[in-house]
Amino acid sequence: MGRLITIEGGDGSGKATQTQLLAETLQARGYKVHTISFPNYDSPACGPIKMYLAGDFGKHPNDVNPYAASSLYAVDRFASYRTTWKEWYDAGHVIIADRYTTSNMVHQMVKYEEASERIRFLDWLEDFEFCKFGLPRPDVVCLLDVPLVVTEALMAKRHHKTGGTTGDIHEQDHAYLKAVHASYDELVARYGWKRIACTDSHQSMRSKEAIHEDLMIAIQESHVLDRL
Ligand SMILES: Nc1ncnc2c1ncn2[C@@H]1O[C@H](COP(=O)(O)OP(=O)(O)OP(=O)(O)O)[C@@H](O)[C@H]1O
Ligand SMILES: [Mg+2]
Repeated sequence: MGRLITIEGGDGSGKATQTQLLAETLQARGYKVHTISFPNYDSPACGPIKMYLAGDFGKHPNDVNPYAASSLYAVDRFASYRTTWKEWYDAGHVIIADRYTTSNMVHQMVKYEEASERIRFLDWLEDFEFCKFGLPRPDVVCLLDVPLVVTEALMAKRHHKTGGTTGDIHEQDHAYLKAVHASYDELVARYGWKRIACTDSHQSMRSKEAIHEDLMIAIQESHVLDRL
């Protein structure tokens, strides 16, 4: 059995950047490392996800209930696992995932206001993906923590740069993104995710290298690579 390290965080929080830096550092230390990312927009398994994000099933995230939306993403992960990285994982390699079931937890649990409904949903999702679909559970989840005001400023800049596109149905919705950020606290408490501060006291992004150093500390503290 290999190890699965998951990098979670909001849009533009640096997931791809930190996934790459972590892979390079672990490779240099002699580990066999692979990076994966979700959703797999190039895969046919991602078709329904693209429809969901484009608003084909409803223009507001709440138009698709968490169980239905989660099923679409689970299929994408299952397809990628069975066609690409199961082999590496079974061979004892380290897999670093830029988003995973964790993104599903974040984006879908917020659709419920009642804590009991959120918990029922999380219990179902864990059973669905890790037991019924047989996907590996992450050994450690590192959350790249960027305050919402910083995320929204980054998004606005990005949309301006890309010629004024307005983002997908999640990115467009402030109340939704606010709830997403609030849900991080719940998930950190429930699952023991490692929170990595990505901004300094002036709400500026810290350097990629500084964030990477903290990420390495979190990985070491989690003992995830011990006995590998
Ligand atoms: N610490 C940082 N400081 C400043 N810029 C950064 C930092 N980390 C990443 N970036 C830049 O921010 C942009 C987004 O980073 P990246 O693609 O790694 O984030 P992501 O979380 O994967 O984003 P997405 O939401 O697009 O998936 C890239 O241009 C990247 O070079
Ligand atoms: Mg990315």
